Amino acid sequence: MEIYMLPLLLLSVLVLTETWAGSHSLKYFYAVMSRPELAKPKFISVTYVDDQQVLSFDSDHESQSPAPRTPWIQPDYWERETEIFREATERYRVCLRKVSGDYNHSEGGVHTFQQLSGCEVFSNGSFSRGFVQYAYDGQDFLALDTETLRWIAGNAGALNHKLELEADQSFTKYWKGYIEEECVYWLHRYLENGKETLLGTDPPFLQVTRHTSADGEVTLQCRAQGFYPAEISLTWLRDGEEQLQETELIETRPAGDGTFQKWAAVGMLSGSEQKYTCRVQHEGLPEPVFLKWEPQSSSVGLSVGVTTALLLLLAAVIVGVVIWRKNASGREKRKGLSRRQA
Ligand SMILES: *[C@@H]1O[C@H](CO)[C@@H](O)[C@H](O)[C@H]1NC(C)=O
Ligand SMILES: *[C@@H]1O[C@H](CO)[C@@H](O)[C@H](O)[C@H]1NC(C)=O
Repeated sequence: MEIYMLPLLLLSVLVLTETWAGSHSLKYFYAVMSRPELAKPKFISVTYVDDQQVLSFDSDHESQSPAPRTPWIQPDYWERETEIFREATERYRVCLRKVSGDYNHSEGGVHTFQQLSGCEVFSNGSFSRGFVQYAYDGQDFLALDTETLRWIAGNAGALNHKLELEADQSFTKYWKGYIEEECVYWLHRYLENGKETLLGTDPPFLQVTRHTSADGEVTLQCRAQGFYPAEISLTWLRDGEEQLQETELIETRPAGDGTFQKWAAVGMLSGSEQKYTCRVQHEGLPEPVFLKWEPQSSSVGLSVGVTTALLLLLAAVIVGVVIWRKNASGREKRKGLSRRQA
């Protein structure tokens, strides 16, 4: 069963020197995938601290070394990391072969085996929770219940593995130690090295927009953009009451520049827009912000981007008016023509 294990990094004494605002997490994503056209399964790994990608590895990459994804990551243990990823590549290839075999899947077909592991700490730096999960072909395979130290099998194919893991406690103990100590140690280290970027916040840029559907239903959309970290709360209130059932909320998504976006929409009868308020809570805002739809300018707060957007809009309106005039005069001509014909 040690095929699932990661080599242990040396654990130094855990010293809590600082407290950080908010809770924090360290997450490792691993995926190994076989494809008929590949001689060997491809292994990739991505490491996240909070919502920032810090390290990645791709077995297809010529260097066979991890790639830093943020400037602050220190290559002081690079050699060791490189060694770990190279070893993990082989380990997870074996793993994929073994699990595919258990499902009677032929070698070299399209299959994936994934692992998500990591830990979270409270704002005072102490361990709050950890997780280890495996998936095969996108379905839950095994997950560790860190309270009871039992393994949860996602389906019948994983049952034998669950029993095997529970019979030999060494693997489970390894993971418990890993998530509670070593993972926390590395999280602290990353937070210390990257505190300028990791601990900084970007407040959301907020906007309420109004949309009318073909059947006349009015929707107000509360949009938040450019914020960091990803954790945010957008709530629509009607006369002060939360409209949880009535709200359509999209999942927070990355903007691609390290910041995040989200929106929440609520439908209503035309004319009741002013009864609705959007409440936004985010670490970058000293206190909750309340927004309403503003009929004239639906934007709140002006930034350079918005000013540009407004100028573009203005330009579009001017162009639009010119085109409309042209069409209108065209329409007038046509009308005149038809009148004359009639
Ligand atoms: C795989 O094949 C063996 C032998 O034919 C069979 O006993 C077993 O149940 C199969 N396993 C699955 C998961 O289908
Ligand atoms: C840290 O905070 C958590 C939750 O607020 C609390 O349960 C824990 O006892 C605290 N630990 C220390 C060492 O203060």
